[in-house]
Amino acid sequence: TTNPMIDPHGRTIRYLRISVTDRCDLRCRYCMSEKMTFLPRSALLSLEEIAIIAERFIARGVTKIRLSGGEPLVRRDVGELVRRLGRLVGSGLDELTMTTNGTRLAEHASEMVDAGIRRVNVSLDSLDPDTFRFITRHGDVTQVIAGIRAARDAGLRVKINAVALKGLNEHQLAPMLRWCVEEGLDLSLIETMPLGAIDEDRTDRFLPLTSVFDALSAEFPIVRDSHRTGGPARYWRVEGTDTRLGLISPLTANFCDGCNRVRLTTEGKLYLCLGHDDQVDLKAALRDGGLGALDEAIDIGLGRKPARHDFRIEAGSAPAVARHMSVTGG
Ligand code: GTP
Ligand code: 5AD
Ligand code: SF4
Repeated sequence: TTNPMIDPHGRTIRYLRISVTDRCDLRCRYCMSEKMTFLPRSALLSLEEIAIIAERFIARGVTKIRLSGGEPLVRRDVGELVRRLGRLVGSGLDELTMTTNGTRLAEHASEMVDAGIRRVNVSLDSLDPDTFRFITRHGDVTQVIAGIRAARDAGLRVKINAVALKGLNEHQLAPMLRWCVEEGLDLSLIETMPLGAIDEDRTDRFLPLTSVFDALSAEFPIVRDSHRTGGPARYWRVEGTDTRLGLISPLTANFCDGCNRVRLTTEGKLYLCLGHDDQVDLKAALRDGGLGALDEAIDIGLGRKPARHDFRIEAGSAPAVARHMSVTGG
């Protein structure tokens, strides 16, 4: 096998994102339709298959794995996967992390720490109960805040992910940054991306982070921070605090030159880029041909990794890809 994994653009793949389920207990407006349909359970990778594929990627040079969804904590056997992959932290894996919506975090925080997770990212787009309910359609913000505090108190470093949405949380981002400083959390802001059909036009809600950053800079002493996670964010810090501010700007500041990641879906497809449809079927390869065929399929995928996404937010245009973020795990 070829080790490490290098794509045709010279980028080394070290970060595997795994969507463990496309299901979610929320229905965020920018993410999915109110009437989202989910995959039949028979189409999903078993936990054992996810672990085998993840371990193969680690053997081939992946040092960071993130479990996401959908909402990863709605998959019943996810704890088992966390424990199994957690054993590889320190021997192969540098970091095992999770991106969660936080609704079930209070119950799972200590289990995660025990398994070897040191850091989680929690999606939270508003601290205001009504705005949060509106954006998520179902969510109770007090439950998520309780989950965040439980995670922090269990010893996890917590980063809040907030998608910046014009006319929705636009004026709540400064209070949210202040709250993160008070609570000892990091904050990353994200530009809304054209992935999958939703019930509204994303153009109406698109907020470039350039303008958000200018507004925050007027209120906070923000300084550049050299922190790197291997993810797409560029980091700043609120001076005099431990709180990092991350900006994820796929639309206004493309970060694809530094891309180091691929994505495994809950159906066992390997997507080479969030913004493209091209994929290889690792589930079929593994089931029909075992580890050798799995390696071959990974190599075929790597050889087709696109140079960059081409996201644009234009009124009336169809999403860049039909697939929702929840299928590929963001
Ligand atoms: P860290 O390890 O904390 O840096 O995590 P991360 O930013 O890689 O992961 P997270 O799940 O917190 O994702 C934050 C946002 O970044 C989500 O909206 C992701 O979809 C987005 N994101 C992550 N990787 C990519 C990428 O390769 N391309 C694009 N366009 N967005 C990405
Ligand atoms: N554009 C940008 N971010 C999105 N997320 C979900 N859908 C989208 C989208 N279309 C965010 C979630 C979560 C992260 C994994 O991706 O809020 O924080
Ligand atoms: Fe669920 Fe996350 Fe999508 Fe919200 S953004 S509906 S929490 S997968």
